[in-house]
Amino acid sequence: MRKIGILTSGGDAPGMNAAIRAIVRKSIFHGLEVFGLRRGFQGLISNDCFRMHLGSVADIIHRGGTILRTARTPEFMHESGRRAALSTLRANELDALVVIGGDGSFHGADWLTSAGVPTVGIPATIDNDIACTDYCIGFDTAVCNVTDAINKVRDTATSHERVYVIEVMGRTSGHIALFAGLAGGAESILVPELPFDLEHVCQRLHRGVQRGKLHSIILVAEGAGSALSIGEEIKMRTNMETRVTILGHLQRGGTPTAFDRILASRFGAAAVDLLLSGRFGQMVGNVGCELRFSPLAAALAQKKEFPAELYHLAGILSI
Ligand code: F6P
Repeated sequence: MRKIGILTSGGDAPGMNAAIRAIVRKSIFHGLEVFGLRRGFQGLISNDCFRMHLGSVADIIHRGGTILRTARTPEFMHESGRRAALSTLRANELDALVVIGGDGSFHGADWLTSAGVPTVGIPATIDNDIACTDYCIGFDTAVCNVTDAINKVRDTATSHERVYVIEVMGRTSGHIALFAGLAGGAESILVPELPFDLEHVCQRLHRGVQRGKLHSIILVAEGAGSALSIGEEIKMRTNMETRVTILGHLQRGGTPTAFDRILASRFGAAAVDLLLSGRFGQMVGNVGCELRFSPLAAALAQKKEFPAELYHLAGILSI
């Protein structure tokens, strides 16, 4: 193995830059040449590739987003896009590829593996919806961003004695809502993984008011429903003054937390180890403090487990 490529694909995630830095530095440490592909699989298709040096990744560990930029690339689903990608790899004599991203990116990495390209995956998505790892890069930062937003909303919610319904990202995953809801002391957390009853949510609101609560926060994962309609419904059923806040892409930006930087640095270095030891078609992950390697195909075949015990704990602590 002499030359490797790196790409970041799908929604950006804070900490992707720390992973790129780790891959570049660790590869150069082992005498490899590194090439960055711009805009994910789009760069593979259009041959947008450049040599990376130690200095290419200076001063990026603390930056959100991705210096390689990213894209969602439907062309990579088609035969012509895939043929173009393989010819870019051949033209630049890239011996292997590190794909940093979420579920869609891992499907691309798995296809490249089946096409004979030595590929490894690094899970990076704020949704934290990849199986075979406790955490994906970017999730912790998104949770901290949402927790910070809850703290701010609380101030105004208390002053006006209002109910706030806050919608968070996560696609079909309720991980951000659960972790930020627990950290932010939300009264109710609505996630797509578990059924919920709005009547029950309203009863909790009434109980809170009876015992003197000045505000209530309800966290809604985008996959569980629209905060706008849930807010309307709550207002109608309880007659309480209700406001809706949709946090949107604010959750995905900002400087990565120390946790994400450390996770990304470990994942990036471990991905290079995987390539050097010839273990292709694998992804890097963590279970507790330990790194774990799993086949990309196995991760894609499983649904990530939802930590139901944390959900029940959040319910008990917010009675
Ligand atoms: O997958 C990350 C994510 O932020 C999801 O939580 C969200 O549903 C989606 O991306 C938004 O996508 P886009 O940035 O393309 O609007």
